[in-house]
Amino acid sequence: MSAEIIDGKAFAAEVRGKVAEHVAKLAEKGIKPGLAVVLVGEDPASQVYVRSKGKQTVEVGMESFEHKLPADTSEADLLALVDKLNKDPAVNGILVQLPLPGHLNEDLVINSIDPAKDVDGFHISNVGLLATGQKAMVPCTPLGCLMLLRDHFGSLSGKSAVVVGRSNIVGKPMAQLLLRDSCTVTIAHSRTKDIEDVVKQADIVVAAVGRPEMVTGDWLKKGAVVIDVGINRLPPAEEGAKGKLVGDVDFASASEVAGAITPVPGGVGPMTIACLLANTLTATCRANGLDEPEGLTA
Ligand code: GUN
Repeated sequence: MSAEIIDGKAFAAEVRGKVAEHVAKLAEKGIKPGLAVVLVGEDPASQVYVRSKGKQTVEVGMESFEHKLPADTSEADLLALVDKLNKDPAVNGILVQLPLPGHLNEDLVINSIDPAKDVDGFHISNVGLLATGQKAMVPCTPLGCLMLLRDHFGSLSGKSAVVVGRSNIVGKPMAQLLLRDSCTVTIAHSRTKDIEDVVKQADIVVAAVGRPEMVTGDWLKKGAVVIDVGINRLPPAEEGAKGKLVGDVDFASASEVAGAITPVPGGVGPMTIACLLANTLTATCRANGLDEPEGLTA
């Protein structure tokens, strides 16, 4: 293996440390950032995320508000809760955990969040602000990837970047962020012709398709920097065991060719919650007319 391993777990701990320092300074001004997380239903993966978010929010000195609603919650009740949180001055950030149960309109719910409190950056106002280069709330996972890339390269200007995947949560905002940092950006997806050749042009590859180990070493240009957003659990080798966690990149072959690569687990994953906390801090500073924390925003 020749690639440098990009340690997202360690970097995320640094980000949380910086957030905690800023939160302590805000406390001297009598300000305590608050993050509200809304979970509808009992999706096991979502429950794990939400627990982890709550714990880390408290660890950096913020207030955590958790709202767990039953799976059959009506849209009107959910919208009423979001409205209450929008109006609550103790709440600086609101996150509605996705996916929502099928009877709830995700777009409607997300777009009912006050854009200034939309720490996920999913509200159409924030999507538009990001696309036009204005001050936005930026989705957490792409923000985490950007921080890792900036830390690795310093400047991203002029680099050729291929984002594999076109989701609203990762692929599209990732492409916008790379474009803003003056990369030449291509978005590849399931219908892209000769996708291997497209990926092979890239200095930077961000894989966010949700297909286990799809990107292999022979797709990569020698020395490319590979950011693996995927978290996929393979079927267990034997009954009762837990399947192995793998990314969207085949780590074994890719790490022979890449210059640097994020592992799964321990790469992008821990950056997502760290960036959620960073966004909550940013939202709090903006709401109070204070300077934004340096190095924690896009
Ligand atoms: N579900 C999986 N990832 C996310 C995320 O980043 N934000 C929200 N709100 N839901 C998610």
